[in-house]
Amino acid sequence: MKSNGVSKVTVQTLAKMKSEHRKISMLTAYDASFARLVDQAGVDIILVGDSLGMVVQGGGNTLPVTMDEMIYHCRSVARGTERAQVVGDMPFMSYQASMEDGIRNAGRLVKEGGAEAIKLEGGADYAELAARLVKIGIPVMGHIGLTPQSLHAMGGFKVQGRSASQAKKLLDDARALEQAGCYAVVLEGIPRELAQEITAAVSIPTIGIGAGVHCDGQVLVIYDLLGMNEEFRPKFVKRYDNLAVRIRTAVEQYITEVRNEQFPDEEHSFSKDAPVRPEAATPYSSARAAAGGGVVERDPDATGAACIPLPFPRKK
Ligand code: KIV
Repeated sequence: MKSNGVSKVTVQTLAKMKSEHRKISMLTAYDASFARLVDQAGVDIILVGDSLGMVVQGGGNTLPVTMDEMIYHCRSVARGTERAQVVGDMPFMSYQASMEDGIRNAGRLVKEGGAEAIKLEGGADYAELAARLVKIGIPVMGHIGLTPQSLHAMGGFKVQGRSASQAKKLLDDARALEQAGCYAVVLEGIPRELAQEITAAVSIPTIGIGAGVHCDGQVLVIYDLLGMNEEFRPKFVKRYDNLAVRIRTAVEQYITEVRNEQFPDEEHSFSKDAPVRPEAATPYSSARAAAGGGVVERDPDATGAACIPLPFPRKK
């Protein structure tokens, strides 16, 4: 499937990647700007995770996140994404009470949020719902192991599947989801040996988080990967940057320059005599050029904000 000349990642692409032993990369995003960057970097799947309840909303867990919030963030991510598959997470109590709730809410994520697949937490108990959704035409990604929506039942965010009986249950869950027609399954917070066993036992891709290297793919929360929260240092997260420090440094510099009247200088302000500089258009001019819009010819009185063109090539 092609959009703007870019080959879209689909359920079929991901199945092929598993069969060819090519690893799948997945990251979360919650808004169009981050979605655009991770998509441009080449990630295969963007998950609009209910983790947004923690990293965006500042909550202690994911339980309060609502359907309307998920749809809002999904829509933003879908607008910023061209190539990656966009997966919308089903929040707590959007599918647990009834089959009808599950079908209606998964439909809303696709119809209103622009998601191309949905993810739901739970194993064999949700296989029937998964099968119904697949039949309707909604691809389903399962999620087993440490399932954050069951935080209170698990007694905290704890590694699952350490005992033989738990491990067998997780293997059975993965098989049940595969049987139901799920196209992939997230394995969260389980021993790497068990993740390896499950990955070998099912034909669908496994995507690990805190589940070792033998999964078919990996997922991380983008804010964790970028080091946005200095206090959060779980064993399974590798930080690829330290944005907490870098953002604070940039903001401190801005505050200093405002206080010292170093900003805005002549370069960043307007004068009644200044010539028109079309190349100094708007922060979004490169996106507009990419969309075929070219450089914006500036009105000398325009602030930039007034002539911000469509920031993202794809409009949903
Ligand atoms: O909500 C989320 O971000 C997730 C991933 C961490 C798998 O479920």
